[in-house]
Amino acid sequence: MGFWLWRLFFFAFAEILLFHGFCSSEPAPNYSFLHQATSAPPLSYYDYIIIGGGTAGCPLAATLSHNSSVLLLERGGSPYGNPNITNLSSFGRALSDLSASSPSQRFVSEDGVINARARVLGGGSCINAGFYTRASSSYVAAVGWDSRLVNESYRWAEKVVAFQPPMRQWQTAVRDGLLQTGVSPYNGFTYDHLIGTKVGGTIFDGEGRRHTAADLLEYANPKGITVMLHASVHKILFTTTGRKRASAHGVIFRDASGNKHIAYLNDGEKNEVILSAGAIGSPHLLMLSGVGPLDHLKAHNITVVLDQPLVGQGMADNPMNAIYIPSPAPVEVSLIQVVGITSYGSYIEAASGENFAGGSTHRDFGIFSPRIGQLSTLPPKQRTPEALAKAISDMEALNPIVFNGGFILEKVRGPLSQGHLHLVNTNPNDNPSVTFNYFQHPQDLQRCVEGLRVIERVIQSRPMAPFRYNSLSLPVLLNMTASSPINLLPHHANVSTSLEQYCKDTVMTIWHYHGGCQMGRVVDSDYRVIGIDSLRVIDGSTFRDSPGTNPQATVMMLGRYMGVKILKERLGN
Ligand SMILES: Cc1cc2nc3c(=O)[nH]c(=O)nc-3n(C[C@H](O)[C@H](O)[C@H](O)COP(=O)(O)OP(=O)(O)OC[C@H]3O[C@@H](n4cnc5c(N)ncnc54)[C@H](O)[C@@H]3O)c2cc1C
Ligand SMILES: *[C@@H]1O[C@H](CO)[C@@H](O)[C@H](O)[C@H]1NC(C)=O
Ligand SMILES: *[C@@H]1O[C@H](CO)[C@@H](O)[C@H](O)[C@H]1NC(C)=O
Ligand SMILES: *[C@@H]1O[C@H](CO)[C@@H](O)[C@H](O)[C@H]1NC(C)=O
Ligand SMILES: *[C@@H]1O[C@H](CO)[C@@H](O)[C@H](O)[C@H]1NC(C)=O
Ligand SMILES: *[C@@H]1O[C@H](CO)[C@@H](O)[C@H](O)[C@H]1NC(C)=O
Ligand SMILES: *[C@@H]1O[C@H](CO)[C@@H](O)[C@H](O)[C@H]1NC(C)=O
Ligand SMILES: *[C@@H]1O[C@H](CO)[C@@H](O)[C@H](O)[C@H]1NC(C)=O
Ligand SMILES: *[C@@H]1O[C@H](CO)[C@@H](O)[C@H](O)[C@H]1NC(C)=O
Repeated sequence: MGFWLWRLFFFAFAEILLFHGFCSSEPAPNYSFLHQATSAPPLSYYDYIIIGGGTAGCPLAATLSHNSSVLLLERGGSPYGNPNITNLSSFGRALSDLSASSPSQRFVSEDGVINARARVLGGGSCINAGFYTRASSSYVAAVGWDSRLVNESYRWAEKVVAFQPPMRQWQTAVRDGLLQTGVSPYNGFTYDHLIGTKVGGTIFDGEGRRHTAADLLEYANPKGITVMLHASVHKILFTTTGRKRASAHGVIFRDASGNKHIAYLNDGEKNEVILSAGAIGSPHLLMLSGVGPLDHLKAHNITVVLDQPLVGQGMADNPMNAIYIPSPAPVEVSLIQVVGITSYGSYIEAASGENFAGGSTHRDFGIFSPRIGQLSTLPPKQRTPEALAKAISDMEALNPIVFNGGFILEKVRGPLSQGHLHLVNTNPNDNPSVTFNYFQHPQDLQRCVEGLRVIERVIQSRPMAPFRYNSLSLPVLLNMTASSPINLLPHHANVSTSLEQYCKDTVMTIWHYHGGCQMGRVVDSDYRVIGIDSLRVIDGSTFRDSPGTNPQATVMMLGRYMGVKILKERLGN
């Protein structure tokens, strides 16, 4: 079958799926086990206490609830009924809401790149761009996971949260452009991580409704689980009585009124506290609880439980750079759907702008909008709150015609550059200081440059012809935006000649930051905190590299995978 004929079939198929999506609408779950922490007793006992109801914490709690009693503590509220979370067309609303009740908490790394962390049941899966894709087989092998249980765990999550996206004109053109550029073969629609070009999954269904890790609580045994919302854990409690080393035995958390509650583990060697507070939250809370670099903890008057200099080390954020392609032809609104996986470590993904907050007259650059903190027009260190405010008002003043276009982004695999996390104070609700050291490793920079070269060829490819103004060559595209009011690029003498400089000056985050409690450094291969009993960390903070092209599938998989393993250990087989 010829490629073009095949493409016709593909379209028909996608339309059927899309239509099918419209017919199958199920109501949002109404869990009997969700409570506000204000209703929690001052003292309670459980077999497992999980800190953080995020992308890993929800599947983990749901699984453990089947043969034990589980307390899941989440500092944020419920995602259900909040259109800023559930509705695809309102992507960015949560990220631009800077209030204390927002599902997203903004932070700015010491590098100067503006970033975000989740604060809601379901975690990052409630505020992210929804792309769903697995890790490669070589990643699974390198971590040492059991490939069969990994596959079962992915499928367990996919039954509830993963969907095939509709493919429309812009995403299709980028896909075909990638193929003509040599990012081949075409692997079709697949969750698998394979060299070439593919269409990945999404957690948005055919109606544009988001399905999150909180939906995985559908799998929970309601009798075995208690979920507390607005329950902010301040400290993990340790005991040393009758032991050679410290053992976690409870936590202190505070409710929305600031009242203190204590939860302890039931007696039993197999019971555990599990930290799933994410790549910022987990190393942060370990330090606040006395597990971290001795001198640093002492400087903050924290009683040291274990001197562990590697807590907070290995923090990494994959650099993301993008090129904006203003288009003469209409471009559909889309988050990420098509991805090119190159053999040398750059991932190419396509997205396009959108009408902000459906119904509003404001137009917006979607995942590249200054409203959500993306500001590639200035080098990172110059991205002050004033500069951000100016970029937002400049964007609002733009002629709507400039919003007709799309972005092609590239993300650097790994990355090899790493940084660290430090305490600023001892308030668990405040952000710690985080440094990612983007492009410190020369290979990260090389991969960025190669990724930009691929994007250049994609833009120039035949399938992209309807979406480009032919007068605009790459140097002009790179530069044009700097001199036009779109102003997506920094004014830099060398921007059109040095792609290296472009990478450094326009670096943004794709929010795939990880590390801080890495396997082999802070946790062992069973995710147990090295040197402490009855304490594990299970979330993105344990990663050495970001898995797949985008991590959330693997974070959900990890929650399920470890839940199954821990239950097997508990039940003795
Ligand atoms: C804007 C954005 C876009 C993204 N786009 C994509 C994408 O398209 N595809 C993809 O695969 N990945 C994407 N990601 C990345 C992905 O969502 C994250 O890697 C993943 O969600 C991290 O999961 P986690 O379980 O490690 O942490 P989280 O999901 O952040 O969970 C941690 C949870 O712990 C809670 N918590 C923290 N501290 C405490 C405390 N002291 N007490 C109680 N609770 C606490 C937090 O509120 C949070 O709910 C994106 C992320 C963001 C932010
Ligand atoms: C959810 O269930 C509770 C009782 O379990 C009920 O009071 C409430 O009205 C329900 N909410 C929705 C939206 O169905
Ligand atoms: C574990 O839970 C499952 C499902 O709830 C149940 O069928 C099984 O009997 C339990 N096993 C034990 C040992 O409790
Ligand atoms: C949605 O986000 C907007 C800002 O982006 C905020 O003003 C509004 O209060 C939010 N709504 C909810 C229900 O959180
Ligand atoms: C798991 O799935 C991957 C890709 O889908 C496949 O290559 C691998 O062989 C599977 N592993 C097992 C043990 O089935
Ligand atoms: C630590 O305690 C000492 C003595 O009480 C005090 O002087 C110092 O300011 C405290 N440091 C911090 C960071 O709170
Ligand atoms: C999303 O929001 C828009 C605008 O508020 C609304 O028209 C649409 O019906 C919503 N979609 C869903 C699935 O809730
Ligand atoms: C880049 O923009 C500057 C103005 O900001 C202009 O002077 C220069 O000629 C442009 N270069 C290219 C290659 O378009
Ligand atoms: C610009 O490029 C030239 C030649 O490559 C180099 O000598 C100069 O240092 C660069 N300037 C900056 C600011 O990077």
